[in-house]
Amino acid sequence: MNAKTTDSSAVANKTARQFTRVLEIIEKYNHDKKRLITILQEVQEEYRYLPQQVLTYIATALDMPVAEVFGVATFYAHFSLEAKGKYVIKVCDGTACHVKGSSRLIDTVCNKLKLSREKHTTDDMLFTLEAVSCLGACGLAPVMVINDQVYGQVTSQKCEEIINDILQKENN
Ligand code: FES
Repeated sequence: MNAKTTDSSAVANKTARQFTRVLEIIEKYNHDKKRLITILQEVQEEYRYLPQQVLTYIATALDMPVAEVFGVATFYAHFSLEAKGKYVIKVCDGTACHVKGSSRLIDTVCNKLKLSREKHTTDDMLFTLEAVSCLGACGLAPVMVINDQVYGQVTSQKCEEIINDILQKENN
């Protein structure tokens, strides 16, 4: 077997495993198309985004038009069709946070991780930066959330420290 064959069978195995997990989620909801949003949520928790081939698979498994499944996945801001990093950094850019300097935090993250308003995810797929609207914790402005962890009254320095801690943890 040559290296190319080995590579393609490894990819095929990985894809088969992906679909096995998706099928488990679909079966948990008895292939019920009325549970599409719940299914998409669980699949997204699994992959951190909704890969296009997975959406097509879900449509087939639920016996729904592919366009309808894509329509739901693109309608809700909560769903992402783009791959995201292991750590999703959400910087709140709602009014209260903006007044308290959220733009500086966004610049700090961009500089630190070589990201920009156009490039949201680092090449190593470790971080994704998102500027989001009010996170409902205005009293703690400016607010930043990394995965499920909320950070309040974040200064640029604190932001750098938080990212450094993650990098250190990842490098150990
Ligand atoms: S404006 Fe940022 S939490 Fe409300």
